[in-house]
Amino acid sequence: MVQRIAVIPGDGIGPEVARIGVRLLESLELPLRFEWFDFGAERYLRDGTMLPAGFMETLRKDFAAIYFGAVGDPRLPGNEHAKGILLAMRFELDLYINLRPCILLDDRLSPLKGKARADLRITMFRENTEGLYAGIGGVFKKGTADEVAQEVDVNTRKGVERICEAAFAWAEQRGLKRVCMADKANVMVFGHGLWRRVFAEVSARHPAIEAKAMYVDAVAMDLIRQPEAYEIIVTNNLFGDILTDLGAALTGGLGIAASGNIHPGRISLFEPVHGSAPDIAGKGKANPLAMALSGALMLEHLGYALEAQRVQSAVERQIRQGAHTADLVPLLGGAAATTEQVGAELLACLSSTK
Ligand SMILES: NC(=O)c1ccc[n+]([C@@H]2O[C@H](COP(=O)([O-])OP(=O)(O)OC[C@H]3O[C@@H](n4cnc5c(N)ncnc54)[C@H](O)[C@@H]3O)[C@@H](O)[C@H]2O)c1
Repeated sequence: MVQRIAVIPGDGIGPEVARIGVRLLESLELPLRFEWFDFGAERYLRDGTMLPAGFMETLRKDFAAIYFGAVGDPRLPGNEHAKGILLAMRFELDLYINLRPCILLDDRLSPLKGKARADLRITMFRENTEGLYAGIGGVFKKGTADEVAQEVDVNTRKGVERICEAAFAWAEQRGLKRVCMADKANVMVFGHGLWRRVFAEVSARHPAIEAKAMYVDAVAMDLIRQPEAYEIIVTNNLFGDILTDLGAALTGGLGIAASGNIHPGRISLFEPVHGSAPDIAGKGKANPLAMALSGALMLEHLGYALEAQRVQSAVERQIRQGAHTADLVPLLGGAAATTEQVGAELLACLSSTK
């Protein structure tokens, strides 16, 4: 059966990298149909549409995945269209897992002295629908000397349990041995106390996996000192936001950082971690590898594990043998190549892995 993929390239460099990503995935000749949608700043400024009425229902019913570029445009500094497009899909489709592999694909990409590929193979599970990002709070006596601002940290048993379960399930499916949960239960005793209790309950259901609860500050320090101690890290929305960016910096930066916004068994969204990069948009400078690796995560979600591995191997080979966009030149050397050049090399690497 043909699975339909909604491609939303979005703004800035989104369309530049999405073009490469889709070309790469189409070359695999799988029963996938890529359908393009023009939602983003341009469309919003033209006719006010963020996502049209009924689109979320269509996604749920008719599509298997969303392959997303980026949103963000200098003409909309408040980024209101991002809330109505990307955040709306994350929340309304209940994409509770933000999956971010922090895997070193080439020794030269690590800024850490003495660390090599075998030392950096971490998958991070960030809770994606709750925590301090739930948007609950308010200000009181705004603009006065007595102003009070509150932001509510939402932690539900259901929310914590399902993200912890997802982390352990991932470990089991891939023969991994260790899951670490990062919190701040020493000071955030209520919310993160819940995380501690639920993590212990979930880990008891997976006795073959070593489970460790740690304070997030210790985890951040350790990621620099001994990243090899970690295989899977599960954490809340805020800490996940920060730790995953640290993880990206340890493995080559935004140009190659991929992510999935996942609800197992349902339509899920795959996107590079980077934004629309208005500073380089339209200049052919965007690194397309993060989009390609996000495509590999999507293939895995759709049941094409072998093909996902082929795409990742092609990216590794392209990094090893090919030219690089400007963001990777300080790490890998050589002259800067364009998005299209790297894309063409990537396609050649993929077809040679057949
Ligand atoms: N998921 C998303 O769609 C998402 C994520 C982050 C930021 N944003 C939005 O994107 C816009 C720009 O945000 P920002 O500048 O803080 O973050 P950004 O990720 O767009 O860019 C940060 C820096 O990294 C560089 N960079 C990013 N992706 C790159 C790539 N593929 N290749 C080479 N260099 C790359 C950029 O040139 C820039 O210097 C804002 O409107 C922001 O809200 C969107």
